[in-house]
Parts: sequence; structure tokens; C-alpha cells
Amino acid sequence: MAMLTPDLIEKYVYSLYRQKNSQLTEMRQYAEDNLVPIITRDAERLIYTLCAIKKPEKILEIGTAIGYSAICYGIAAPEAEITTIEVRERSVFKARKNIEKIGFEDRIKVICGKAEEVLPEIEGEFDIIFIDAAKGQYRKFFDLCEKNMSRGTLIISDNVLYKGMPCDESYIDERRNKTIARRMQDYLSFLFEDERFETSLLAIGDGIALSYYK
Ligand SMILES: C[S@@+](CC[C@H](N)C(=O)[O-])C[C@H]1O[C@@H](n2cnc3c(N)ncnc32)[C@H](O)[C@@H]1O
Repeated sequence: MAMLTPDLIEKYVYSLYRQKNSQLTEMRQYAEDNLVPIITRDAERLIYTLCAIKKPEKILEIGTAIGYSAICYGIAAPEAEITTIEVRERSVFKARKNIEKIGFEDRIKVICGKAEEVLPEIEGEFDIIFIDAAKGQYRKFFDLCEKNMSRGTLIISDNVLYKGMPCDESYIDERRNKTIARRMQDYLSFLFEDERFETSLLAIGDGIALSYYK
């Protein structure tokens, strides 16, 4: 029997993917052309499915880039108010333009700043918290938004398998990534061991951890 390879699966999964909106098609093309890291197509699908199940009303995102995933949440959860944090001013500008273009400016608020500095000021509880910024800081981000979690909150952490580096040291290409890989291992161990959360790790895109606050 032929072995299933990740490439074979990815190619097939991507062939099933259908874009929800022509603006998102343009934005994905822009991201590819300009090397902006945005969620993969299968991670995008997961967002739609999770939002269909959960019907979130409040979503917090850490790491906006050009606003692609924030807009996906906006489409996937038409009732939701979304707060998203981005440190790069140029990205914030671009994200706000994209958000206005699709008409979500009343529902998606982009805050410009370092998440470490912005998060302590964020009030209220969120139904979904999406962590997709500096890969070495996930535990810090998580701790800073613990006050915004309650039973039922779903924490989605993207890129937790960081190009395979947390799984196998031989994938580590540079020194800086060694720290990121170790911190990601620590973060995943924390998520799996903390009994308040039910966590599973999905080999989707660059790895997604789903943690449900029980
Ligand atoms: C992977 S991209 C986000 C992609 C976006 N979620 C999407 O899928 O469309 C990560 C973003 O996090 C931002 N970032 C990195 N460190 C950050 C920090 N400490 N605080 C806020 N944003 C940060 C980067 O500038 C970058 O735009």
C-alpha cells in the first residue's frame, strides 16, 4: 500500500478549498506575492467550522498582519466583535484599509502596539482567543489574556509546530529558532498539563493547538 505523505495530503486538501469571498482571494495573492505570513487554507477552513459550532460574539486576535484572518473571523462569525493587535504600523494601516474595504470597520477594531503592552489594558471576556504573533512569546501572551478567559473560551494557537522544530531538533536551522522551539515545547506541555483546559494538537498548516477552557 502506498504511504500517505504530507505533500500528497496537502495537495488534495488544498484542491477541496473554495474561497468564500473575492476580496480574500486578492488578499491571499497579495500575501503570497509580498511574503506576508497569513493563515494557511486548511487553518482558514478550521476557523469557519469552529465559528459555525461556537457562534462567538467576542474574538480577540494577537497578530493581525494585513487583516486576513480577522476578516475570516468577521465572515465566519457575522455577530462577532473582533479586537486584533498588531505591532507593525504599516501592517495596521494595510489591515484597516482591507477591513474598511469589506465593510467590517464597525466590528473589527485593530489596535496598534506590542501585544505584551496592549493586553493588560484589554477588558472583558472573549469566546475565542487566536494567538498568531511572535512565536517565542505564546506563553506570555496566554498568561496576559488569562483574565479574558472563562469557561467556554476557545484558545486557538497557530504555528505551534513551527516548521517541525519543536518536534525534532534536526529541523532547527538557526540559533534564534532553538529558543523558539524550546519555548513552543514548554508552551505545549503547559497547555496539555493544565487541567483547566482540554487541548488537542492538529497537524494543520504549521500546527494548531486548540484549547477549550472547561
Ligand atoms: C503570522 S502574522 C499574523 C497573520 C494573521 N493572523 C493572518 O493569518 O492573517 C504575525 C503578525 O504578528 C505581528 N507581531 C509579532 N510580534 C508581535 C507582538 N509582540 N505584538 C503584536 N503583534 C506582533 C507581526 O508583525 C505579524 O504581522
